[in-house]
Order: sequence, then structure tokens, then C-alpha cells
Amino acid sequence: MAYGSKVLDHYENPRNVGSFDKADPTIGTGMVGAPACGDVMKLQIRVNDQGVIEEARFKTYGCGSAIASSSLLTEWVKGKTLEEAGQIKNTDIAEELALPPVKIHCSVLAEDAIKAAIADYRKKTGKDENVNAA
Ligand code: FES
Ligand code: FES
Repeated sequence: MAYGSKVLDHYENPRNVGSFDKADPTIGTGMVGAPACGDVMKLQIRVNDQGVIEEARFKTYGCGSAIASSSLLTEWVKGKTLEEAGQIKNTDIAEELALPPVKIHCSVLAEDAIKAAIADYRKKTGKDENVNAA
């Protein structure tokens, strides 16, 4: 099965690979695994005091679609509020990358990872209540 060109682009030139210091209070870390295949994705966001994501980094131990999904996600969340980033759906990622049905769970991993990173940041900062300033 051939990968689509957008998947290949992100797979061969992944954006924002790396990690931030987990202990930094401006960083939210999401670490999730895919039960279907055992792959693991770590996604981190750096958030400013307006609740806007300034940067994201990822490390993914997984297939090309999982790497491409996380790479795309780090680009999408940049400049978004936590609220907005939390609304990104795996189906948006799958559609953008034209993932075939057997690879949909790879994009689910990315959605789970950003949600986990946001939850971690909120928990750390105790900002659960006041991030919805829309
Ligand atoms: Fe490992 Fe799909 S089987 S990423
Ligand atoms: Fe499992 Fe891609 S994350 S096959």
C-alpha cells in the first residue's frame, strides 16, 4: 500500500521533532499509546499566559502515518488557543493526509496525544477554570 504524498512529506521531513523539559511549568506533555499496534507518541506544547500554544514538539515511535499525523498536528496547534487545539479531530488529520482506513487509528493517536498534553498543562497550572475566555 502506498502512502500519499502529504504523509511522505511529513514522514521524510517531520516538523518539530524533539522535546521540551517536562518540568517546565509552561509545558504540557501528552504520552499515549495505540492499543492496536503498540506504538507510542509523545506530544508536548509550550503555552503562553494567554493560553495560546506557541510551540509544539513530538517524538513518535510508530509507523509513517503516526509520524506524519504528529508532525502535521504540531504545525496545526501552533498559534491556537488550548480550546481550539482541543477541538482538532482525528478525522481532520486523516482527511488532510488522505490516510487509508487501516491507518485511521494512527490519527486517533495524534488526537489523543494533543488532548493529553492539554490536560497535563491544565492540571499543572491549575488553569482548568479560566481557559475558556472566548
Ligand atoms: Fe505500528 Fe502501525 S503497526 S504504527
Ligand atoms: Fe499504529 Fe500507525 S499508529 S499503525
